Amino acid sequence: MIRAAVVGATGYTGAELGRLLAAHPEAELVALVGHSTAGEPVAEVLPSLRGLVEGEVRAYDAATIAEEADAVFCALPHGASAPKVAELRGAGLRVFDLSADFRLSDLDVYRRWYGEHGAPDLFGRAAYGLPELHREAIRGADLVAVPGCFPTASVLPVAPLLREGLVEVEGPIVVDAKTGASGAGRAAKPRTHLPETAEGIRAYAIAGRHRHTPEIEQELSRLADAEVRVIFSPHLVPMTRGILATVYLRPKAGADAARCVEAARAFYEGSPSVHVLDADGNPDTLWVRGSNRAHLSYTADERSGWIVAQGAIDNLVKGAAGQAVQCLNLRFGLDEGTGLRQPATWP
Ligand SMILES: NC(=O)c1ccc[n+]([C@@H]2O[C@H](COP(=O)([O-])OP(=O)(O)OC[C@H]3O[C@@H](n4cnc5c(N)ncnc54)[C@H](OP(=O)(O)O)[C@@H]3O)[C@@H](O)[C@H]2O)c1
Repeated sequence: MIRAAVVGATGYTGAELGRLLAAHPEAELVALVGHSTAGEPVAEVLPSLRGLVEGEVRAYDAATIAEEADAVFCALPHGASAPKVAELRGAGLRVFDLSADFRLSDLDVYRRWYGEHGAPDLFGRAAYGLPELHREAIRGADLVAVPGCFPTASVLPVAPLLREGLVEVEGPIVVDAKTGASGAGRAAKPRTHLPETAEGIRAYAIAGRHRHTPEIEQELSRLADAEVRVIFSPHLVPMTRGILATVYLRPKAGADAARCVEAARAFYEGSPSVHVLDADGNPDTLWVRGSNRAHLSYTADERSGWIVAQGAIDNLVKGAAGQAVQCLNLRFGLDEGTGLRQPATWP
């Protein structure tokens, strides 16, 4: 059994890690570590784990975690995560960090978007935890930077097209994405509470202002082996979970929807979390809600000549906790789908 602890366990992604690890056949959940609620019963702070996880939310202590665990998930806000990740790595743990602190490969880019880094010596040493693209690196990594939710939903549909050279990379790629409110975390904020989200939709941090922009560009540029620019427009929509990314691309000659589907199916062969719909399919976040699955689709717009690619995921599962567990599985030599085969909770 892999002994696993979660730091930041009382937030939304931490709770999701608790849910997945409590049912994982090869992992034992040894500690749920919190912050402001340390010492309170797990059942009170995370009622969904009532009867499944006993005891109290623990206070953070790297030495104790290292005595009890082989691996630790860090589900902390960016900035708060880096120093703790450094400490936990120093204590010999394998660390799966869900924050943005180790996802970027260029420290100057990190500083521009997030400010000073809390553990610059460790920066650039993590594997980027998108298993479908970096499986081998994750297998050998002691620090995995689990991708952001928007980058996961956006990069997965585009990756096969760039790898196969089916689309142009000169000029920007347009990513229009919708997210549910759990993407903003558990802490109450006026902009995400029910009366201000339930019946409206709005974009935020558009026009190159969202912090996931450099992460998406980093991964797409790696795939294209050329600098890729994106116009990224995230929207908050009235739902709790889910991301739908709709990506507009200019195809090269012969790259119709059927060719894109064929390329994506070949690219994701052997990837249990990714399902490619038939051409012209429209994925729905409801079809993946609660699961570690991504649904992808490709449609040709014959009037403009463009390709519209889509990716739907659950932001808390394939966009965070499930993907982190997928990385744990790879790192510890398990089948990557272990403990992650739950279908969506549809409807
Ligand atoms: N939500 C998503 O869909 C999603 C998807 C992908 C990645 N992520 C990333 O995953 C991380 C966690 O996100 P989340 O949505 O789970 O956030 P969240 O719901 O706000 O939870 C944050 C957790 O970190 C703890 N915490 C906050 N400040 C802390 C500090 N200074 N020191 C120690 N612990 C602290 C919180 O404890 P208290 O409540 O007691 O403060 C809570 O347990 C973030 O970096 C986020 O960007 C989130």
